[in-house]
Amino acid sequence: MASPGQKVVLITGCSSGIGLRIAVVLAKDEQKRYYVIATMRDLKRKDKLVEAAGDAYGKTLSLAVLDVCSDESVKQCINGIKDRHVDILINNAGIGLVGPLESIPIEEMKKVFETNFFGVIRMIKEVMPDMKKRKGGHIVVVSSVMGLHGVVFNDVYSASKFAMEGFCESLAVQLMKFDVTLSMIEPGPVHTEFEAKMIQDVKAKEYPGTDPDTINYFKNVYLPSSVDIFETLGQTPDDIARCTKKVIEANKPRFRNMTNSLYTPIVALKYADETGGLSIRAFHNILKMGPLMHVSMVALKYLTCGCLKSSSISPN
Ligand SMILES: NC(=O)c1ccc[n+]([C@@H]2O[C@H](COP(=O)([O-])OP(=O)(O)OC[C@H]3O[C@@H](n4cnc5c(N)ncnc54)[C@H](OP(=O)(O)O)[C@@H]3O)[C@@H](O)[C@H]2O)c1
Repeated sequence: MASPGQKVVLITGCSSGIGLRIAVVLAKDEQKRYYVIATMRDLKRKDKLVEAAGDAYGKTLSLAVLDVCSDESVKQCINGIKDRHVDILINNAGIGLVGPLESIPIEEMKKVFETNFFGVIRMIKEVMPDMKKRKGGHIVVVSSVMGLHGVVFNDVYSASKFAMEGFCESLAVQLMKFDVTLSMIEPGPVHTEFEAKMIQDVKAKEYPGTDPDTINYFKNVYLPSSVDIFETLGQTPDDIARCTKKVIEANKPRFRNMTNSLYTPIVALKYADETGGLSIRAFHNILKMGPLMHVSMVALKYLTCGCLKSSSISPN
């Protein structure tokens, strides 16, 4: 149970990746300012988290079952917390979906929205009324740069994050009246099971209903570029955890927090031309560059080094 003065932090999707690292980084806070309730839908997947938490497990970190797709599971978890008191809610659970649109059943697309969009809303609906009554609290949503600009073959995943961005941008206005803060964390590529699941998924699939040109574009143009982008620009889950800690500890937390400054010019392209043509053409041309794309990404990384940091949140 939380000690007096400790903030209760509830995090979704802590069995792996970013959620696991946020839980560990906060539970190991030197000043022990946080009591972390690390949730996951299946406690059989707890071992990696328990191992990483070390001594903090059972002291500043406890586990609870929570499936963001189930009303009952969300209610049961929140009702199990003393006075239902959550100071900081970190909505991290999410799933990806990549591939040619023609080959993806609508049911699979709905699962992405059920998790990434309605899953977050389900959590906020359960926790927000008490925060409003108390006139305090912080809701954090792990979005993505794909919630700010679309990425080819990630159409539905990107749409789910865009939906979240629109939802939060609207809700943040109302929450200001109640002194409840809302922040988005917008990572670029991060090395987690997310990326591994995507590659494994792609290898196993046949893409029924998709024409050979599209399959070729997906497998031989998009995929190698995507792997290259992950290798060149990818951050670690620990980077994202440190950014998240900075956001919740800021005096005036920002609403938008991109974690990778190299994405600032990419997102800016969209606003540089209000017709939208510039960014769509730019992405199309970047994919055509093949090996040259790698060279330009490395160049971008070194040319921009420190100068874009102010528009993003740095893990250091
Ligand atoms: N990795 C990236 O490149 C990247 C970039 C930008 C944003 N993000 C976002 O970061 C967040 C975390 O992703 P990650 O990269 O850490 O991937 P990950 O390692 O696959 O972790 C995703 C977590 O979400 C959980 N989850 C999935 N469905 C759930 C449900 N219905 N209820 C509760 N938990 C559920 C998973 O649990 P199980 O173990 O039970 O499956 C897992 O713990 C996601 O919102 C993702 O969109 C990731």
